[in-house]
Amino acid sequence: MRLHSQWLRVALFITFFILFGRLLLQWLSVESSTGVRNHKILVWHWPFGNSLNLAGDFCKDKFGVPNCIMVDDQSQFSDADVVIFHNRELIQREQKLPVNLNRPKSQRWVWLTMKSPDYNGNVIPFAGYFNWTMTYHQDADIYSPHGVMVPKDFETDEPIEDLIPKGKTHLVCWVVNDFSPDHKRTAIYDKLKTVIPIEVYGEEVNRGLTDDTLLPTISRCFFYLAFENSVFRDYITEELWHNAYRSGAVPVVFGPPREDYEAVAQKDSFIHVNDFSTIEELGQFLRKLVMNGDAYASYFNWRRKYTVVVKHWVELACEFCPKISSMPPHKVYKDLDGWQR
Ligand SMILES: *[C@@H]1O[C@H](CO)[C@@H](O)[C@H](O)[C@H]1NC(C)=O
Repeated sequence: MRLHSQWLRVALFITFFILFGRLLLQWLSVESSTGVRNHKILVWHWPFGNSLNLAGDFCKDKFGVPNCIMVDDQSQFSDADVVIFHNRELIQREQKLPVNLNRPKSQRWVWLTMKSPDYNGNVIPFAGYFNWTMTYHQDADIYSPHGVMVPKDFETDEPIEDLIPKGKTHLVCWVVNDFSPDHKRTAIYDKLKTVIPIEVYGEEVNRGLTDDTLLPTISRCFFYLAFENSVFRDYITEELWHNAYRSGAVPVVFGPPREDYEAVAQKDSFIHVNDFSTIEELGQFLRKLVMNGDAYASYFNWRRKYTVVVKHWVELACEFCPKISSMPPHKVYKDLDGWQR
């Protein structure tokens, strides 16, 4: 009898330990099975309502990043290490910063935007709220460019012709969905089209392209006008990374200075509008370049060694997770608007 109750006590103790110990660990959410600290990232709201299903160990299952818990459930605010706020919804007042909640001392608030200051609305009221930025700026805390050029594992030795899409029929193409006569790029286009023919696509001219038709269409062009809608430091978008590089049309870029492009892309992979003193000169240069096969092909040399990678911001957030512990302990953006310009 006595022995029996002793076993019962041991069994009870073990049950208690398993149940509550696990709960305690979960509650603390500190140690993972490998003993490395878990970080919790809370996506306060999804950009443009484009939500992802974060079920399971999302960062690990999708991108191979362990010890990173990503959630989009606002009720987990109090134990999140990092909270990401996308600018657009804040500006449009569809979402608010939870300034009324008790913000843990070590919690970082992240300001996420992929757009240029011209499209971010008035962010002056956000001064002093954010600890980190997640943008295309090279000096953002969570650098999230619209694309990157990464070295290939093996340099290819294919003949250069094989790196150039076949069947090019148009000299210069442009896709414009966001048209404004006030954009600087519009003035350049207006002048350039008097020098050489430009094939224009996009909603603006009722020739909208879909995700399926965009790249095959642009690949038939020798050059693509990767013109940014506004000119700001580091502001280089999918115009270059997706439309131009992915299609295999040589980009003619307009945006920040050449140095900004060279900081992220091979310098012989694009032509910069600023390389010419007049638009007339640029037009003549393009016209001559296609008549000299070798010179044109030289803009594809980089493709032997590099490849272009475009990542979703969520992947970049997961990849950032292991760096959280080594970030400076304290930071506040006192002049967010000044910083973004
Ligand atoms: C984050 O920013 C807030 C608001 O300015 C500030 O009070 C807090 O100390 C900052 N935290 C860190 C960890 O930098």
